[in-house]
Amino acid sequence: MTADGRGTAGRAAQTVRSAQTVRPTTATSRRRPRVEPFAAVDVIATKRDGGRLSDEQIDWVIDAYTRGVVADEQMSALAMAILLRGMTDAEVARWTAAMVASGDRLDLSAVDRPTVDKHSTGGVGDKITLPLTPLVAACGAAVPQLSGRGLGHTGGTLDKLESIPGFRVALTNRQFVRQLRTVGAAICAAGEGLAPADRKLYALRDVTATVESIPLIASSIMSKKIAEGTSALVLDVKVGTGAFMKSLDDARELARTMVDIGTAQGVRTVALLTGMSTPLGHAIGNAVKVAESVEVLAGGGPADVVELVLTLAREMLGCVGLSHVDPADVLASGKAMDTWRAMVRAQGGDPDAPLPEARERELVRATKAGFVTAVDAYAMGVAAWRLGAGRARKEDPVSPAAGMVLHRRPGDRVRPGDVLYELRADDASRIPAAAEVAATAVTIGRTAPPPAPLVLDRVAAPEHPRGGGGRRRRAGSG
Ligand code: URA
Repeated sequence: MTADGRGTAGRAAQTVRSAQTVRPTTATSRRRPRVEPFAAVDVIATKRDGGRLSDEQIDWVIDAYTRGVVADEQMSALAMAILLRGMTDAEVARWTAAMVASGDRLDLSAVDRPTVDKHSTGGVGDKITLPLTPLVAACGAAVPQLSGRGLGHTGGTLDKLESIPGFRVALTNRQFVRQLRTVGAAICAAGEGLAPADRKLYALRDVTATVESIPLIASSIMSKKIAEGTSALVLDVKVGTGAFMKSLDDARELARTMVDIGTAQGVRTVALLTGMSTPLGHAIGNAVKVAESVEVLAGGGPADVVELVLTLAREMLGCVGLSHVDPADVLASGKAMDTWRAMVRAQGGDPDAPLPEARERELVRATKAGFVTAVDAYAMGVAAWRLGAGRARKEDPVSPAAGMVLHRRPGDRVRPGDVLYELRADDASRIPAAAEVAATAVTIGRTAPPPAPLVLDRVAAPEHPRGGGGRRRRAGSG
């Protein structure tokens, strides 16, 4: 930003038509009314009519929205036009760069180890970040994890960590860098100054039915990861009923878009596409997921969680020249657990404190014999959310103790009376609505289903040389 509050956009866009004088809204602009180089309505109309936004239009609209000059209703119209019309590769790259430029970009050069992060697009039962971050740090890298909170049926890493007594998710940039130097791992909230345009835009998309756009999802995720300053990034793009991306084609497109963006910005980026039609592991919720993550760090835990943790760890280590380190050995040695404990302590938490327990528990049992053929991730995610593990609005609190524990997974044999899953809540009145949706999740058949692969595809830059200019489809367009 320049001193008068204008970003690169304002400077780049002097010669363009449709200038508009706007009513000043920020402190800076109140002092000095300015002439805006574009009218928001023209930018919206360009995209509404299927046109391509110029670099200058993109820079300006992101900058002006961050300054409060482009109104929420204008940005929601533009987001809807983007959702319906798509964006070219070049537009997505510029949109992301403008969102990064709307705030600070962290400098992690003081961290004396290679930095590598992981981002999951969100799934049910996903707790991978908790064991993976200390594991990769124990292998010799530094893992700068800026995470978020849950919204809707998927949980958020910060909500899980806050179930550990004393754990602080707010770190200053200085504390974050210091912890990366001393422990190698830090999981905390992104500061206000990081990609502020995305912070505003994501909240707006959430209430205007414009989340499900591949260009907007890709640029939102990547702007935050690029601003965080990591040198490498492994993306876990979830596919299935419990994920944003329901089809493999959409997930591939999202993965390619993000890999292209990261690569263009100098961040070594790889994406794995992983299944999310069944919840990961047994635990869905906050404290229950922490407990399951600690089991993994102690050398146990569900096989699918351990497999995904090790697969992602190998990818992350490969990105930063540490592929000679075997994360399975490091996990077995107990060093990852030591790093977890050091990280929890460094952030004010007590790794030995008991985790919150739910007051109300209900066991749901099988009524017939056979094999579990499906446990639907979306339905189970909604059930955990109704129990209080998730929030409907950003400002809602979550219950650390609420959630689900799956006792049977696809492929398991069951007899009548066997426990299928357990519902946990602080408040018994939450159980009936959760039980109703969970009852639709489990299918029992006569034969065991074939094992479902966890990793469905891998997308990395050299395998996908793509030029700009191809039109992006929107999510859900098949
Ligand atoms: N997560 C994000 O950070 N942004 C999106 O748009 C969707 C998921």
